[in-house]
Amino acid sequence: MTPDFALHRKTLLDRLPEGEAVLLFGSPHHLRNGDAEYRYRPSSDLYWLTGWPDPEVALLVKHGEAPFTLFVQKKDPELETWTGYRPGPRGAVEDYGVDEAHEISELPDKLVDLLQGVTALHYAWADEPEHDALLAAVLRKTQRKSRKSKLPTPLTFHHPAKLLHELRLIKNDAEIAVMREAARISGIAHREAMAKAAPGVGEWEIDALLTYVYRREGGEGPGYTNIVAGGENACILHYIKNDLPLEDGDLLLIDSGAEVGFYTADVTRTFPVNGRFTREQREVYEIVLDAQLAAIDAARAGRPYQDMHEVATRILTEGMVKLGLLEGDVDALIEEEAHKKYYMHGTGHWLGLDVHDVGLYHEPGESRALQPGMVVTVEPGLYIPIDDESAPERYRGIGVRIEDDVLVTAGEPDVLTADIPKSIADVEAACQGARIAAK
Ligand code: GLY
Ligand code: MN
Ligand code: MN
Repeated sequence: MTPDFALHRKTLLDRLPEGEAVLLFGSPHHLRNGDAEYRYRPSSDLYWLTGWPDPEVALLVKHGEAPFTLFVQKKDPELETWTGYRPGPRGAVEDYGVDEAHEISELPDKLVDLLQGVTALHYAWADEPEHDALLAAVLRKTQRKSRKSKLPTPLTFHHPAKLLHELRLIKNDAEIAVMREAARISGIAHREAMAKAAPGVGEWEIDALLTYVYRREGGEGPGYTNIVAGGENACILHYIKNDLPLEDGDLLLIDSGAEVGFYTADVTRTFPVNGRFTREQREVYEIVLDAQLAAIDAARAGRPYQDMHEVATRILTEGMVKLGLLEGDVDALIEEEAHKKYYMHGTGHWLGLDVHDVGLYHEPGESRALQPGMVVTVEPGLYIPIDDESAPERYRGIGVRIEDDVLVTAGEPDVLTADIPKSIADVEAACQGARIAAK
């Protein structure tokens, strides 16, 4: 179950206009602190085309006899003793299927020649100053050389969003299989978290459990930092401290997804720490669930992307009025954006190699239509701050989000994370059932 990198390369080359080239650099390898290293995570664009897992890498794509040239770390037995095997240029050709490969130190000189005859370059300026400086120096030399060679040099630049990211947006069967696996492993972890959570257990323990399950089941780990937010912490959208104990009577919001083959799931479940929703928690939860189910139903080919948000926002705003959080006419409240007091984020995003994956959301002036092969998250929520004196007291401190990953198909929305407990009955059963099983 690996992505079909050769197919990705072919798809890109088929769409790349004659005379244009694509230049991608790997992400820099950042140190964590001092000499301590993070585990390297490749840049998604370059990985999508090569499967190359290591840092210090760049890829040039252009039509010709050798369309894919990869620049990689040189073989170095001494360094390999410290950090492990390096395929080197030969391994890049033999094992990764690129047409040519060189040591990364050769990049500036080789690029001066490779860019001769190229009219337009697809390159992400302003991502990394070091790469920009290297390319600017190369372009100056290419331009000087072109006076003699009379060949064109790149005068037009396109952001990778124009071509490459549109390809990454539509997932093929192999990618979908990997994403299903990420969803499956995420489901195991969320269910184990429901089982483990109890008054007195630390958010950090659940955090560790999620990561452990992802690794145990064959994933790389979480695709983004786990959010394990007990009680009012759920109202902090990117709560990642995960350092407080869980309390009886509170909800626990977990936003966490496994990364498998560098594709990530993105899942949120909210459930009672003690296994039983209170009446107020249930009221809020049911509104969010209704909004989420309706938004999922809008994840259909041909519907504008924005529909999911509009559908969810309406149901949530009606709910806010019903709970006494807002007063007034629902249309007017939405128009005035009054709902943002309790629902301040979007209803989803593209999902893939990046948790907030690439691809445009709008055509000029309007929301783009959904297409089969797109994967979106659907993640409405309601967040009632503990100190919100305008909210009925009984709802204060409740935060609920429910998030699934949905594949747009030619027919029904395909919820990749469908088997993770979500209805009130299923969530309570998962908490209780697991509790009994654990005894
Ligand atoms: N986990 C990040 C998000 O839901 O967008
Ligand atoms: Mn999300
Ligand atoms: Mn999420």
